[in-house]
This record gives sequence, structure tokens and C-alpha cells, in this order.
Amino acid sequence: VMWGILLLIGSYFIGNLDFAYIVVKIVKHDDIRNYGSGNAGTTNVLRTMGLKYAALVLLLDALKGTLCIAIAKYLNLIVGLDPMWIAGTGIAVLCGHNWPALLKFRGGKGTATSIGLFLLYDWRIAVICIGVALIILAIFKMVSLASITGMTILPFVTFAFWGLTNPPALILTIFMAVSTDVQHRSNIKRIIAGKESKIGQHVEMKN
Ligand code: G3P
Repeated sequence: VMWGILLLIGSYFIGNLDFAYIVVKIVKHDDIRNYGSGNAGTTNVLRTMGLKYAALVLLLDALKGTLCIAIAKYLNLIVGLDPMWIAGTGIAVLCGHNWPALLKFRGGKGTATSIGLFLLYDWRIAVICIGVALIILAIFKMVSLASITGMTILPFVTFAFWGLTNPPALILTIFMAVSTDVQHRSNIKRIIAGKESKIGQHVEMKN
């Protein structure tokens, strides 16, 4: 239990390392949250700083999710953890990313981190959801809609694979779906109003 609690706290603070915020702070000395959608995430970096920096942010935000699950799986090998702690690690790193104490609780929406963590948690399910999201992205050109779709089907795909035999995976994926939809609430309003921005739209930064 002690290892489990340390794992959750550590994962929460690794989640606080919001690379959209960090990269823009280093490169532009500015706060990404003042531009575009106001979100500290890959899509907003793409809008303001272009593909190269967006790819970097996507990679780093994804890798922090992968890292936390890797640590959880490694700890499980050496001390043996209840599977719920591994699912809890995913929840903790996402909470850290979405609601970072170190950034006044204004973080990102969790898509990149979810991709990274779930590819290691159960790659078959991740690949299916990412595939569906990419198809939605190709058709509608809205990253938000693609994220929402991929993440909302995640618990259903997990259920299709595991049925009720893997409660931690169901709890983790239901959390991921619900938190994604909560974090994308302003996007959902814009999508319904037909006002959501599409990929390729550029937003100028002040300096
Ligand atoms: O995961 C974030 C993406 O789905 C939407 O980002 O900046 O358009 O709100 P943004």
C-alpha cells in the first residue's frame, strides 16, 4: 500500500509537467494559456507555434504517461501491486496533467498523455481507439472531435476485450472518457455551434 500511494503521488506530479506550457515558456517566454483555445496542449501549440513544437509536446506529454505506467508495471514486478494501483496510476497522471497544482490547476485535456499511458497499459485497445480518432480527424479536421470520439469509445472497446473480467481497466477507461468530455466542454459547445477551429488554422502570438 505504501508503494501504491507513493506511485499515485509521484504520478500526479509527473502529470504536472505540462510540456505545452513548458516548451512555450522556454521558447517564447509566454503562457500558452493566453492564446488560441487557452489550452495547454498539443493542438494549441500546433495552432500557435507550428508542427515541429506540437510534435515535441505530443511526444513528451505522451511519454510522461508511458513513464508512469512503466514505473507502475516495474514496481508490480518487484513488490507486487494490486492491479487497481496500476489503473490508479493512469488516473493520477491524468489528474496531474488536467488539474496541475503547480500551474494553478489549469492544465490540458489529457489526450496526449492518455495515448502514451494506454499504449503501454493495453496497446491493442489503444491502437483501435487511436485508429478511430485518426479517421474522425481525417474526415472532420477537428482534433477536439477526434479526441472526444477516441476517448469516449475507449471504455466500450475495453469492455469488448475484457467484459467484466478486468474491473481496474474499466474504472480507468470510464474515468478517461468522462474526464475527456468534461475537459472538452467548451469544444463541445463550439462543435455544436459549428464554430470549432480546424487543423491548419494559425493563431498569432504577441512576441
Ligand atoms: O486534446 C486537446 C484537443 O482535443 C483540443 O485542443 O486546443 O482545440 O481545445 P484545443
